[in-house]
Amino acid sequence: MTEPRETSRHIAVCPGSFDPVTAGHVDVIRRATVLFDEVVVAVLTNPAKQATFTLEERLEMLRESLADVPGVRVDAVSGGLLVDYCRQVGAVAVVKGLRSGTDFAYEMPMALMNRHLTDLETVFLPGEPRFEHVSSSLVKEVAGHGGDVSGLVPDAVLARLLARLGVVGHTGTVPGR
Ligand code: PNS
Repeated sequence: MTEPRETSRHIAVCPGSFDPVTAGHVDVIRRATVLFDEVVVAVLTNPAKQATFTLEERLEMLRESLADVPGVRVDAVSGGLLVDYCRQVGAVAVVKGLRSGTDFAYEMPMALMNRHLTDLETVFLPGEPRFEHVSSSLVKEVAGHGGDVSGLVPDAVLARLLARLGVVGHTGTVPGR
């Protein structure tokens, strides 16, 4: 006899401060939508980091950057534990991208703590090698010094980033090369 089909929707949460969202984030979120029925991108405020963009701006940039990705919802988390938010939205897992051993060392204790708290699982997706060097903080630092970060952040982010950092344009290619 065939088993009845599992009809419940599998929801995953992709959490982060997304200050701002990068091309690497978008890649991981896009790939997570293949694995889950719905992906909730949860924007949190990380007290350990001084934010460049307001929560509202970060939400807007994410919504614009993910407008063509079906099965994604962007939401703000006002505070509290990630595990409580995941329970509220009915998520079965957290999804995170891993670029390097440094990411692993940062993410693993959080994944284990979340599982300790409520048995919430974390699914790690290997970061796309093209974006291995891309992080919100490095993108801001490079752009702030006039470096070209186009292609490393979604188009919806680039102009806002340059405006926020007070950068007129990037240096582009080095003359003579
Ligand atoms: O993009 P970030 O800043 O590295 O994301 C870290 C974040 C916001 C996902 C993490 O700090 C978090 O989950 N904060 C919510 C509070 C919480 O649950 N802390 C315990 C984590 S084990």
